[in-house]
Amino acid sequence: MEKSDSMKIQDIISRRISVRTYQPEPTSPDDLEAVRRAGEQAEALSDADMQFHLRTDAQMGSEIKGIIGDYGKTIHAPHYIVLASREREGYLTDAGFRFEQMVLDATERGLGTCWVGLMFKEASLRSTLGLDGSWRIIVLSPIGRPLKNSLTNRMLRTLAGSKGRKPIDQLFFWQRHGEMLPANVTSDQHLMQVLEATRWSPSWMNKQPWRFVLLDREILVYKLQHQEREGKDYNRLDCGIAMCHLHVTARAVGIKGRFELGSFEVPGISGAEPIGKYVLENKVL
Ligand SMILES: Cc1cc2nc3c(=O)[nH]c(=O)nc-3n(C[C@H](O)[C@H](O)[C@H](O)COP(=O)(O)O)c2cc1C
Repeated sequence: MEKSDSMKIQDIISRRISVRTYQPEPTSPDDLEAVRRAGEQAEALSDADMQFHLRTDAQMGSEIKGIIGDYGKTIHAPHYIVLASREREGYLTDAGFRFEQMVLDATERGLGTCWVGLMFKEASLRSTLGLDGSWRIIVLSPIGRPLKNSLTNRMLRTLAGSKGRKPIDQLFFWQRHGEMLPANVTSDQHLMQVLEATRWSPSWMNKQPWRFVLLDREILVYKLQHQEREGKDYNRLDCGIAMCHLHVTARAVGIKGRFELGSFEVPGISGAEPIGKYVLENKVL
């Protein structure tokens, strides 16, 4: 039986985990190129130029080979995909949104990925890729076939505190921050599938900095934390990732909407940073 779009996306999102141990053999070049293109052709939230670079392990500069991300753990993979972007309004949120679309495409093909924010490696990686100073290196991901039943991978996920997520009622609110969702929302199966998929988004150190207020025709996205690394707020990337999960799942269950980035008052809380609104086009909550 053919899977429906909503079952397919649910399956992909539930299978995606950060993979930190890989089979050493090279992956099919066609699959890798298809994943890279999925990133390049991903839906965008801003007009920032972005490039998705596919590199083999051998092509990475020696300094960057066997990448060490923020967590101090070396990850060896046969290939890597590196995201470079120009700085524009909303580019970090957009980078999260686009790169995660690529990650989900890779997951669908059975390939493992792991978001890696690189500390102190930006300049050397930029020169390895032949890019000038107008480009920022945002993140990279190792990519390849996951090493099956890897104890190391399980241990690293435990160390990174990756296995759980906050419950729905701590992340999604009704009309104002802190207000519980009403029964007509929690009994709407399609909408709840969207919220559940959003809840399972990956985030830096699994901090889940994003929050959402549901209004009648909009879902407000905002964040409670600010994690700066070399001038990049990782929590904006995290928000873009959650917005990707929200959007692709909404589309799969037949809810039409579009994101608008920008500023607004977050009702019910001061000090939260507004990120954007999801404008519902065929649904009133
Ligand atoms: C912006 C960002 C940066 C990350 N940086 C790293 C990193 O440097 N090293 C690493 O091992 N994992 C990194 N991760 C992966 C997170 O730890 C992981 O997504 C989170 O713990 C949830 O686990 P899961 O992806 O297995 O569901 C990063 C994730 C994000 C979103």
